[in-house]
Parts: sequence; C-alpha cells; structure tokens
Amino acid sequence: MEVSYLQKKKVLEAYFDRTAFAAWDRLTSELPVSWVRERVREGRNNTKTAMLSILPENLSGFRVLDAGCGTGQLAFDLASRGANVIGVDVSEKLIALASERCPKELVNKISFYQGDMLDSQFGSFDFILLMDSLIHYQQDDILKVLNQLSGRVGKKIGFTIVPKTATLSAKLLIGQIFPKGDKSPDVIPVNQKSLIKKSSDFPNLFSEKFQKICSVRTGFYAADVLEFSK
Ligand SMILES: C[S@@+](CC[C@H](N)C(=O)[O-])C[C@H]1O[C@@H](n2cnc3c(N)ncnc32)[C@H](O)[C@@H]1O
Repeated sequence: MEVSYLQKKKVLEAYFDRTAFAAWDRLTSELPVSWVRERVREGRNNTKTAMLSILPENLSGFRVLDAGCGTGQLAFDLASRGANVIGVDVSEKLIALASERCPKELVNKISFYQGDMLDSQFGSFDFILLMDSLIHYQQDDILKVLNQLSGRVGKKIGFTIVPKTATLSAKLLIGQIFPKGDKSPDVIPVNQKSLIKKSSDFPNLFSEKFQKICSVRTGFYAADVLEFSK
C-alpha cells in the first residue's frame, strides 16, 4: 500500500490507542455523554442501521469482515443475525475492549484481531463493512482500500464517507474550538461524485457498481452510506 495509507494507519493506531480511547469507550457505551456526543451517538446508530440494511436479514452461513471494528458494536449486530464475523482494528486497546464487551452467546461467532484491515491472512468474505473506518483517509487511499478489498469480497462492500459540504466544513471548524471530549475529529471530507468518477481508474472498481444508500446528519455528525456491489 501507499506510504500515505501506512503513515495514516500509524497515526490512527496511536490516536485510538491513546488520545481518543477514553472518548470511544464512553461514546460506544450506555453511559451519559455531552449534548454534542449524544447527537453523534444518534447519528452513528442511524449509520449502523443503514449499513445493516444492505445485507440479508438472515446472515447465517455468511462470512463478514467488520473492517476497523472499533469497540465491536456493528460486529455484535452482525453476529446476532447469524454471520460469522471477523473484526479487525489497528488499535490494540479498542480490540481488547471489543473482546471484553462481546456477549457470551456471540463469542463463537466473532473473532477479533488487532491488525491491518487489508491483511490478506483474513481470507475472503461475502460482505465487508467499513463503518466510519475510512473517514480519516484521503480519497485516493479510500479507493485503493476498496480496490484491494473488492478482490476479497463475494457480494458487497458497505462503507461511509464524510461528505464534503460547506455546512459540514463550517461545523468541523467550529468543532475544533470545543472542549477536548467534544472536539471534532481529524476527518477528511470527500466528494462522493468525484470518488465514484475516480473509481474507474482502479482495476477492481466499476463506477456503475456504486450506490448511495442514504445520508445521515445529526448535529456535528455526518456520514454518507454507500455500497459497492460485485
Ligand atoms: C471512526 S472509528 C470507527 C470504529 C467502528 N467502525 C465504529 O463505527 O464504531 C475508525 C476505526 O477504524 C480503525 N482503523 C483505521 N484504519 C485502519 C486500518 N488500516 N486497519 C484496521 N483498522 C483501522 C481505527 O482504529 C478506528 O477504530
């Protein structure tokens, strides 16, 4: 992979293992959070629902990769619907938390690993989901990730981008002056049309196979949910 991808992955490993760990622990728990974070939680729940909606209701017999699984919220829902899930995250501490939080009845359905989501040792999948896992990468790296993963998926890849809009750019700027816990993360907004147009430069990607599922907007959280079908 490109140096820019490897460098960003290293930065994210440190960020999620240290700077952002406590905030992610709390955000993905049931504990109370600030008003700003409550809106983020609401948005993330809507995104998770949208990502799950692109999959069959019954996932029994399907192998699913939760790429950049964080604390495992999506992985738990996938496994509850019968999927055999591999959850991979570059952050050792988030993976430890995901394993700790895994409900007993799902332990046999999910394997969590610390590592790179692109590692080919994880094999092939029916579905691959990247919920907010590419939002820190630049457009070209997002396409390179999708191109690689598309060689290892049988049916669909679901992923999110942070949309490049004037309103969101303003919100992200304002969010920079918020107190530490509510500060906007270092995301890279992406223009959806440009991403899809550029995809035709990649051998495994075809622009007509991309589809936008929905837009999620709640306060300072924004995501566009997209799928790439084989
Ligand atoms: C914004 S968080 C989202 C976490 C999770 N998908 C969720 O929605 O709760 C992004 C996650 O992607 C992980 N990540 C980013 N790049 C990665 C890579 N190359 N390989 C594995 N994990 C990665 C980060 O460590 C982080 O946990």
